[in-house]
Amino acid sequence: MSGERRQLTIERLGHQGDGVAPGPVFVPRSLPGEVVEGVVEAGRMASPRILTPVAERVRPPCRHAKACGGCVLQHAQDDFLASWKVGVVEAALKAQGLEAPILGISTSPPRSRRRAVLAARRLKNGAQIGFHGLKSNTIIEITDCHLIHPKLLAQLDLVGRLTQIGASRKGRLAVTLTLLDGGVDITVSGGRPLERDLFAQLAKLVSGAGVVRLSWEGEPVVAFGAPLLSLGPARVVLPPGAFLQATREGEAALVAAIEQALEGAGKVADLFAGVGTFSLPLAKMAAIHAVESQENMLYALQAGWRGAQGLKPVTIEARDLFRRPLLPDELAQFDAIVLDPPRAGAEAQVVEIASSRVGLLAMVSCNPVTFARDARMLVEAGFTIDWLRVVDQFRWSPHVELVARFVRQGSKSGAKRI
Ligand SMILES: C[S@@+](CC[C@H](N)C(=O)[O-])C[C@H]1O[C@@H](n2cnc3c(N)ncnc32)[C@H](O)[C@@H]1O
Repeated sequence: MSGERRQLTIERLGHQGDGVAPGPVFVPRSLPGEVVEGVVEAGRMASPRILTPVAERVRPPCRHAKACGGCVLQHAQDDFLASWKVGVVEAALKAQGLEAPILGISTSPPRSRRRAVLAARRLKNGAQIGFHGLKSNTIIEITDCHLIHPKLLAQLDLVGRLTQIGASRKGRLAVTLTLLDGGVDITVSGGRPLERDLFAQLAKLVSGAGVVRLSWEGEPVVAFGAPLLSLGPARVVLPPGAFLQATREGEAALVAAIEQALEGAGKVADLFAGVGTFSLPLAKMAAIHAVESQENMLYALQAGWRGAQGLKPVTIEARDLFRRPLLPDELAQFDAIVLDPPRAGAEAQVVEIASSRVGLLAMVSCNPVTFARDARMLVEAGFTIDWLRVVDQFRWSPHVELVARFVRQGSKSGAKRI
């Protein structure tokens, strides 16, 4: 079915970062107030011509911006994007009948992302390395990227050679590069079986190339020293592929906000603790109980704590907090809670917190909609949102993250602004 050519005016940005015109018609790479022209098919104008650009439009700094699916909002000014992201949080709260003082937004700088997942394909003479294109499975070959850290970008040649050796003729590799303290950690999936000759070739390839570890389908192939990641005063050995905050700057903004939110708390439960991004820095001031579903992450956290000096006690517990949240009598021993759930939020845990006597909570979220749903339960149980800070680790994308301080009315914790 061929579409109809139309002229439309963009009214707002949608949750995926597309401009939205009446209909609705979704228009990539457009901004509110712009008049666009193009063919509309199935509610989408895939290749708009911008007839009246607005003042908030900038020339995307990256030469791959148009084709690459990584940065759908690189054509917008930073200030515009910052206030749009704050507005996304306000709108999610409003939909639940809530408001909160928003203290500002911390946006990570360009070239600061410390993890990149590349798609790679073997060619007759070489390899194709890049990101998946906008809403497509095509690999858009990249030679530069304004998002990822230069030390990751410097590994593109090596990823090419690794693809020539390790990809099958028709298959595609997913190559994850993570920047750790001592170099780059590489994990590969979708490759040839790790037989002896491949093992030897890979080990030779990465030796002396600034790589701390190479893992193939989850199996470490080679490690040059320990793959360490500093978290506050401790260093953890990051399990391959384990969650980590997207940028150092974003992690620092989250940790600073949580430390201030929980100032004075002596015993803290860190729920959805991962490898201890918050537990380990917080252990400078409070005893921590870290709860998380992945045992290997908790063991990494515990070993990191053991190797650090001067920290308060840290205990760990492997537990599925969706199915078995901490109950009110377990929560009673803590002065404060940190919650940092996945995108689905922490509904089951928040129900228990609401009916407990916990008075102070710092909640981190990468999904304003589930955050607002959970926040409403807390507010109905007597909490107020003392303040909220937006943390943008995913610049030029529509993702929004935040951290908020909740205080139960009448509890000792009181209001504490940062
Ligand atoms: C957004 S990450 C945060 C991790 C950590 N707070 C950090 O900043 O590095 C969410 C964490 O929740 C864990 N998780 C996911 N589902 C879970 C569940 N049902 N119960 C407990 N932990 C879960 C994941 O393994 C992941 O480590």
